[in-house]
Amino acid sequence: MAWKRAIIHNAGADFDAGAPAAMDCPEPAYPLRPARPLNALGWFSAARDNALSIWHRGAYVETLMQRRLPGRDLLVVNSPSAARQILVEHAARYTKSRDTRRALCPLLGESLLVSEGELWRQQRRLIAPVLTSRSRLAGYAEVMVATLTEVLDRWGENGEAELEMTQESTRLAAEVVSRALFSFPLGPHADTIFHAFVRYQDTLGRLDVLGLLGLPDWVPRPGERAAGAAVAQMERVVEAILADYRRRSEPRGDFVDLLMGSAELGGAVAAPRRIRDEFMLALLAGHETTANALCWSFYLLSLCPSARQRLEEEVDRELAGRTPGLADLEALAYTRAVVEEALRLYPPIYQFTREAVELDQIGARRVAPGSLLVISPWLLQRHHRFWKDPDAFHPERFLGPLSRRHRLCHLPFGAGPRGCPGAGFARTELTLALAMAAQRYRLHLRPGHRVEPLGRLTLRPRQGLPMRLERR
Ligand code: HEM
Repeated sequence: MAWKRAIIHNAGADFDAGAPAAMDCPEPAYPLRPARPLNALGWFSAARDNALSIWHRGAYVETLMQRRLPGRDLLVVNSPSAARQILVEHAARYTKSRDTRRALCPLLGESLLVSEGELWRQQRRLIAPVLTSRSRLAGYAEVMVATLTEVLDRWGENGEAELEMTQESTRLAAEVVSRALFSFPLGPHADTIFHAFVRYQDTLGRLDVLGLLGLPDWVPRPGERAAGAAVAQMERVVEAILADYRRRSEPRGDFVDLLMGSAELGGAVAAPRRIRDEFMLALLAGHETTANALCWSFYLLSLCPSARQRLEEEVDRELAGRTPGLADLEALAYTRAVVEEALRLYPPIYQFTREAVELDQIGARRVAPGSLLVISPWLLQRHHRFWKDPDAFHPERFLGPLSRRHRLCHLPFGAGPRGCPGAGFARTELTLALAMAAQRYRLHLRPGHRVEPLGRLTLRPRQGLPMRLERR
């Protein structure tokens, strides 16, 4: 089952994206890359285990790869110009794929992330402004700083003890989103979400080989029952948030009030399932990816003392011991560059898929309706044609003007009408978290700990991230 190659002419300008990494930075971890494409059996079994390990070396230089699946074509779109065509210019010719829906609907129902057509437009109109408005972002930044202060204080209570960073990042990011959007302190519920989502990722979060082989949705999939139990656990957290809302004596003007009052969603009584779906989406989309990005940022800084030092110098110079706020982000240029570089090397949504609903053409390749298209930030952001030293950690590449680069070589938040409305929220949280953590601590990865990026629904370190805390 070999890939067919196709060259896309005018795929996007090759560009010089910065100097080589500092000498003290070892190359950050990535899964082994087979020299040649895997055969069908190898491909499916690798994909079930770790969706990143299917990519052979050639995948990091190709611009379009194609395979025939039962009943449809699979195209891996691996150039900025083609990504732009699908996500932006011809967005109306594509929907989210049925593979995405199969993996996400048990958890997220018909929420904004998976819906289509008029329903999606209504949801997007309602929800996106709550995440993107500048005045709301200022309020969220205050919640972020207050939550970070509490969490960082707690980290220091155990002296220089080791922390499990994947879990700590989840606690932090889940607490932030719940307080910011629902005015609800999650407390121990954050751990429930962490464990339940790990379980979900290990079941329905794996590649659905049966679906790719053309089996209909009603055929039971392995792990469905365990996934159902994980969903039930997360639903209990949503129930707790709803119960808190019902106890309110007056409105707070937050996301919950907006959703519950929305005529578009039919109101809480008329559409309890829809309310549940949007709550679940906000809770999960609002923390899981940000938690991953935070983990990977800490990992990269622990690998690279010179980058950490530069970040500390910036934070000390610009903040002079003060707690930062939204207005400080502009001055924290290097901290923001570290965030972008972490999102480039370890994009939490490392691939997304689309299904063609109309005929299209990418380069010379005809895209028939029903084709499955994969756009992989993991590949594009480590593409040897579009990045210099693509596997190296080098935040400096994001200090230059972004206009010099083809914007869609870097698409951790997707692009076009379905691009992430939480990008500003996430970037704010990540920059504040790195700056505030750097004011107090240095985090060191446990010596000898093997880090492997694991691609399931999101991108996590397979064996977690044990890190020792050193006070500055
Ligand atoms: C580092 C953090 C984040 C990353 C990497 C990320 C990434 C993405 C990506 C790639 C998409 C588009 C998927 C596609 O086109 O198929 C997306 C969509 C979405 N994200 Fe995020 N996201 C992050 C944080 C957030 C936050 C904090 C929120 C909310 C508080 C959020 C809410 C959403 C929603 C609602 C959508 C669906 C938009 C639509 O389909 O119209 N995300 N995200």
